[in-house]
Amino acid sequence: MRSVKVKNYDEMSMEAAMIVFDKIVHSNRLVLGLATGSTPEKMYEYLSDMLNKNKVDLSHVTTVNLDEYVGLSPEDAQSYTHYMRRIFFDKVNIPLENTNVPNGVAEDLEAETKRFDEGIEKLGGVDLQILGIGRNAHIAFNEPGTSFDSNTHVVNLTESTIRDNARFFHSMEDVPTQAISLGLNTIMNAKEILLMASGNNKRQALLDSFHGEVTEDVPGSVLQRHHNVTVLTDIDGFN
Ligand code: F6R
Repeated sequence: MRSVKVKNYDEMSMEAAMIVFDKIVHSNRLVLGLATGSTPEKMYEYLSDMLNKNKVDLSHVTTVNLDEYVGLSPEDAQSYTHYMRRIFFDKVNIPLENTNVPNGVAEDLEAETKRFDEGIEKLGGVDLQILGIGRNAHIAFNEPGTSFDSNTHVVNLTESTIRDNARFFHSMEDVPTQAISLGLNTIMNAKEILLMASGNNKRQALLDSFHGEVTEDVPGSVLQRHHNVTVLTDIDGFN
């Protein structure tokens, strides 16, 4: 693991945007794994600006998102599909058919998880995976206790995740209780991983994930087994 200490959220976002921009302009074909949540918001803003200023065509880029809430359609403002369109896809020159977010309203959720994994395989895997991390060290929506061998699956969200994500909803009762999430095995198959973490409320999750025991109780700790992980963080005392 390589860790890069940045001054603050803004610098982390700029650094991450530059890394992704560089990959995009120096590849003939790229599969980008994308995260949602508050951590990457500013990164998408910087990245969109860079791509637009340089008139970069993204037809060689395919994106695959980490997760989606069960029960929220793409039209729902709280869905991750809506977030991605609002914050990134609609702002840049990427064909929408190149973007993939799990379908949270699929009739057969199990079939949807299989379709998603097969799609990633057909693409030849993810080249660069962007990750955030939850306070309980979840990555994507792989909550503590998730098997390191897991592929894309339907997840029951923990109470702490529901509480953390309630800030995006009117009330805690509105937060979906399930999500479709890439599995830990799926994430580990990415060729390169860029994890962003900002603010002291993520400190313990980072320490447990990268300096603690590798255990399924700490989903992020699986990343210690990956050969190409960069952590971009403004958290003191982490390196
Ligand atoms: C989002 C995702 C989640 C978040 C994590 C941190 O696609 O997979 O694992 O990265 O919950 O969320 P924020 O960035 O809102 O603190």
